[in-house]
Amino acid sequence: MPITIAAFSGSLRRGSYNTALLQAAAGLMPEDSRIQIHSIAAFGLYNGDVEADEGIPPPVSALKDAIAAADGFLIATPEYNNSIPGVAKNAIDWLSRPPADIRRVFGGKPVAMVGASPGGFGTILSQNAWLPVWRTLGAELWTGAKLMVSGAAKVFDAQGSLVDERTRDSLRGFLQGYVEYVRDRQRP
Ligand SMILES: Cc1cc2nc3c(=O)[nH]c(=O)nc-3n(C[C@H](O)[C@H](O)[C@H](O)COP(=O)(O)O)c2cc1C
Repeated sequence: MPITIAAFSGSLRRGSYNTALLQAAAGLMPEDSRIQIHSIAAFGLYNGDVEADEGIPPPVSALKDAIAAADGFLIATPEYNNSIPGVAKNAIDWLSRPPADIRRVFGGKPVAMVGASPGGFGTILSQNAWLPVWRTLGAELWTGAKLMVSGAAKVFDAQGSLVDERTRDSLRGFLQGYVEYVRDRQRP
């Protein structure tokens, strides 16, 4: 069976390096696997009153179902102020509602993180800040490799193509290891 990885970028920016990283990943997936890139652009800010009055908004429910149905979940996270950007955290907060559904969506789900930044540290602090979130959701973070893309302005061209060969190789290797892990977990 082909492996399907649900993914989203934690940036809404048109020229987002993190979205570009996911698009590059889609072209470098190992055989018999694919990435479905989802958007969190239609998520409003989490508000308990909205949830109580209207329930889970349709774009949130749709992404919850997509993650639940996928074999794994990949997030491309920017770093803001040495931590998780609010937009990305807000998306995960919505996706974790209601608590009774967390297990269906994230429980035991093999999660991987990548991130890109124009700075020199490539989202390391943001990726570290996500760790308690995955633990709280009961997801299984794959820790076989790390991918922190620094100097993003040089690694991507103006069209968002990943033009740096070393980064492409690292991304290819990262995806290989992650998909192997996802596949191994499915073997009886
Ligand atoms: C509010 C804010 C805070 C930021 N803080 C950091 C930071 O702590 N570390 C970092 O590497 N880049 C930081 N940046 C720069 C982002 O890495 C950069 O804007 C990047 O392009 C965001 O990802 P994107 O291209 O996917 O939108 C910050 C940007 C913003 C807007």
